[in-house]
Amino acid sequence: MGKYISKKVASIPPYAIKQFFDIAATMDDIISLGIGEPDFKTPEPILQAGIQALQDGETHYSVNSGILPLRQAIAANLQERYGVSYDPESEVIITVGVSESLRLVFDAILDPGDEVIVPEPSYIGYVPPVLLAAGKAVTVPTRAENNFQPVPAEIEAAITPRTKALLMGYPNNPTGTVLQQEIMTAIVRIAQKHDLLIISDEIYDRLVYDWQHISFASLPGARERIVLLGGFSKDYAMTGWRLGYAAAPNALASALLKVHQYTIMCASTVSQYAALSALTDPAAEEAVQAMIAEYDVRRRILVNGLNDIGLACVEPRGAFYAFPSVAITGMDAMAFAEKLLLEEQVAVIPGTVFGTSGEGYVRCTYATATDQITEALNRIARFARRHG
Ligand SMILES: Cc1ncc(COP(=O)(O)O)c(C=O)c1O
Repeated sequence: MGKYISKKVASIPPYAIKQFFDIAATMDDIISLGIGEPDFKTPEPILQAGIQALQDGETHYSVNSGILPLRQAIAANLQERYGVSYDPESEVIITVGVSESLRLVFDAILDPGDEVIVPEPSYIGYVPPVLLAAGKAVTVPTRAENNFQPVPAEIEAAITPRTKALLMGYPNNPTGTVLQQEIMTAIVRIAQKHDLLIISDEIYDRLVYDWQHISFASLPGARERIVLLGGFSKDYAMTGWRLGYAAAPNALASALLKVHQYTIMCASTVSQYAALSALTDPAAEEAVQAMIAEYDVRRRILVNGLNDIGLACVEPRGAFYAFPSVAITGMDAMAFAEKLLLEEQVAVIPGTVFGTSGEGYVRCTYATATDQITEALNRIARFARRHG
């Protein structure tokens, strides 16, 4: 049947994390630091808003770009938090998560062979939508000695006449890195100089610790070349509701909307009402604050614990991931993750899944209960002593 599969799809490697979850699923007493989603249930006020919407008969399609009150709430929220203004009527589109937004963006902006620069290690969902749009992803490595921040000169060196956009995902999955303002400013200057778009995935914007998130769209002169992607999955523990948004200048937003309406029609209407309460109900906001505080406690336990064991870890300031080096064991990332799973029943994700520069590192999620993190650290310490 292979002859029927398009070259585009055939060029996409299989979902590499799956093999770990398959092995893990067969084990008892497993502790997973592998999964990239909140362990919290969606906060109660948001759940209730969803239930209420169903009972009110909100079971129909919405307008393609999403219910206006939600677009207005998103625009108001971006204005309040980042001082950037988007017209909710024409510059905000409600999507089925950032996953859909990424497909929309690249389908809308790329012609075959156009290039997108992607710093790595990066989220596994960044390169495939570029390939599906017949584009080419050009990866630029980042390194622990720079806290995994991209080096602007290296990004500029990767630009060719075919480059159309830079894809930035900060706070970062898998490293937890947040971007220094001077690096962001330098990246915006590069985009201006070479007339490129910046696709900024800010899905973890609220999950920052001792840090103030800066939106790319808020930097001077940047808004006109930014496609800002946000979502409800992580900040509001709503992964299963499948809801996100894209905000962009009118002409770009119209192009995204064209793809969206013929692909999805509209995002789930009930999820849109739930998301509206996430942004507008003070009780939902209280629940979000409590989750952020809890992630921060877990973050400190995990990062201190890993460093004490000797798995050196730069301090992650955002998202819910730590990205320690496994150098002390002498193993590569894949061997470390496999052996740790088989010998100690702890699941972590090899850094190479996120790009070649992830070699020598593993991703550990702290969206996991504190007692599980503590027990995982005991097991990792035992493992490191045996293999150190
Ligand atoms: C950086 C990043 N962007 C996007 C997504 C996908 O988010 P959504 O649930 O909104 O599709 C994820 C999920 O893990 C992610 O880590």
